Order: sequence, then C-alpha cells, then structure tokens
Amino acid sequence: MYALSGTTHILGIIGNPVRHSLSPAMQNAALAECGLDYIYVPFAVPPEYLGAAVSGLRALGVTGFNVTIPHKTAIMSYLSHLDESAEAAGAVNTVLVQDGLMTGYNTDGFGLISSLADDLGFVAGNGTIVIIGAGGAARGAVAALCRVGAERIILTNRTLSKAIELAEDMRARYPKTGIAAYHQDQINENLLDSASLLVNTTSIGMNGERIDFVDLAKLPKGAKVYDMVYSPLHTPLLKEAASIGIEAVNGLGMLAAQGEMAFSIWTGRMPPKGLMKRVLQRVCNLTTA
Ligand code: ATR
Repeated sequence: MYALSGTTHILGIIGNPVRHSLSPAMQNAALAECGLDYIYVPFAVPPEYLGAAVSGLRALGVTGFNVTIPHKTAIMSYLSHLDESAEAAGAVNTVLVQDGLMTGYNTDGFGLISSLADDLGFVAGNGTIVIIGAGGAARGAVAALCRVGAERIILTNRTLSKAIELAEDMRARYPKTGIAAYHQDQINENLLDSASLLVNTTSIGMNGERIDFVDLAKLPKGAKVYDMVYSPLHTPLLKEAASIGIEAVNGLGMLAAQGEMAFSIWTGRMPPKGLMKRVLQRVCNLTTA
C-alpha cells in the first residue's frame, strides 16, 4: 500500500453493515497497482447518522465514496447533483466530491452491461430479456439495459404490483423499449419462449435456495443466464444452468465493473483490466474455503 501522508486522498464506502464489503480489498489493490496516493476506507454508518456522516465526509475533504445498503436511496437528498445514471436508477452507489459539491452516480448499471459483454458475450439489442425481481437492483438493471438499446424487457416479480409500477416508470423514461410486467408464477407459461437472457436481480440463492418458480429448460437454445448473486460463487441458479448446458455467470463481474467505473470517476483513470475481478475471486475463494 502507498505510504499515508498529508497528501493522501481519502476514498471510502458508507453502509450498514460494511464489514463484509469486498470494495476495500479491490479498490485498494487497484490504487496500489496504479501507484496512486489514495486510500479506501470502510465506514459503518447507521441510518440516523447518514446526514452527519455526509456533512463530515465533505468537511474532511474526502475525494469520493461508495454508498451501499441501506443508504443508496436515502443519500440522494443530501447531494448537490445527480448524474443521469443515478437519477434513472433511483439510487446512488458512487459519490464524487469536488469543491465541496457532491455528485451522485450509479455505476451498477455500467457494471451489469460491462459484465454481460465481457463474461457472457451478451450485448443488448434485438431480443427479449426476462428479469426476476422488481426491487432496487432490478430498477438499475432495467434502466441500464434500456439505455443501451434493449428491444424488449419482461419484468417478473413475487409482488406483481411492484413489477407493474417499475414497468410503468421505465416505459415513460425509455419509450423505445417494450416493457411488460408479470407475476413470477407466470414465468413458465410462455415468458421464456423468446428470451435471449434471463437475469436474477433478487437475493434468492445467497443462502443456497433454488429459484424454484423458474424452469430453465423452457429457455430457447442459446439463451444465457446472469445471476447477480455472487456469494456463494457457484450459485444454485448457475449449477442448474450448467446441468442443462446453459451458459450462466454470477454477479462477481458486475461488482468488479461497477468498482472500476467508480475508480475512474474518482481518479480519472481505469484500473488495469481484470485486476479487481481477480482480487474478488481470491477473496471469495478464501472466505468460502
Ligand atoms: P434490491 O435493492 O437488492 O433489489 P429490494 O429492493 O428489497 O432489494 O428488492 C428485492 C427483490 O427481490 C424484490 O423484487 C423481491 O420481491 P418482492 O417485491 O415481492 O418483495 C425479491 N425477492 C426477495 N426474496 C424473494 C423470494 N424469496 N422470492 C421471490 N422474490 C424475492
């Protein structure tokens, strides 16, 4: 690590909890690799201290920070400006501080698009993308997919009203993409018939659970699966896809790519390609060993 001095720039992550965050490991590794005089620190911030923490970070002159659960939406009211990525996603995961002004970005969408291309060779365009879930992660994913030109998106959720609400909002923002909403139990009826990609945006799988309402065998030949879950690395959805010959990846590439984009917002440079993902893989293998 770079020797700390009076000129060291401070970066960090605020969340609650942040103990399990993988961002300090991958960001500090990339900063060190690039020889940059920066350090990235985790800050556990309870919700009642969010405003004080944001003022404090500004007063202390930090260069920027990541924002994670549960502050991604609440932080928006404390910022001077929102980038379109954050405005569309309705959430901020990266803040840049310049001359005391704070700009909120959302790099998760970039992370997904980038990981889809790099890890699955998938580029959104003609075809149908089926999304499982309609929460914050789904919103970010849909906004990003619409922005890069997805032709048709089918939203499915356990709570139908939330899928309908998200579809209406996204349709108004991105009229060029056809967006429909269904209950998750309708997935196997015929929603997968023309899908080129299935994306899990829910946390199902983190505790070893199967997504038991989806029959992957109904996907057409060549369709791919993206699971935003990355812990365990071999998620139940990935195992199931592999067992019937469907190409599928976990969300580790998305985590790395959102971090690469945040790094570039703060430092003006992209970290060496693949470095953050390698760090994540190493850390995840250690913790699951
Ligand atoms: P995030 O920001 O990670 O997306 P969220 O906004 O709380 O978190 O959304 C979680 C999503 O996962 C929701 O779509 C949720 O479905 P509901 O809207 O019905 O709550 C979905 N989800 C979580 N656990 C689930 C489960 N066991 N079965 C089906 N859907 C689940």
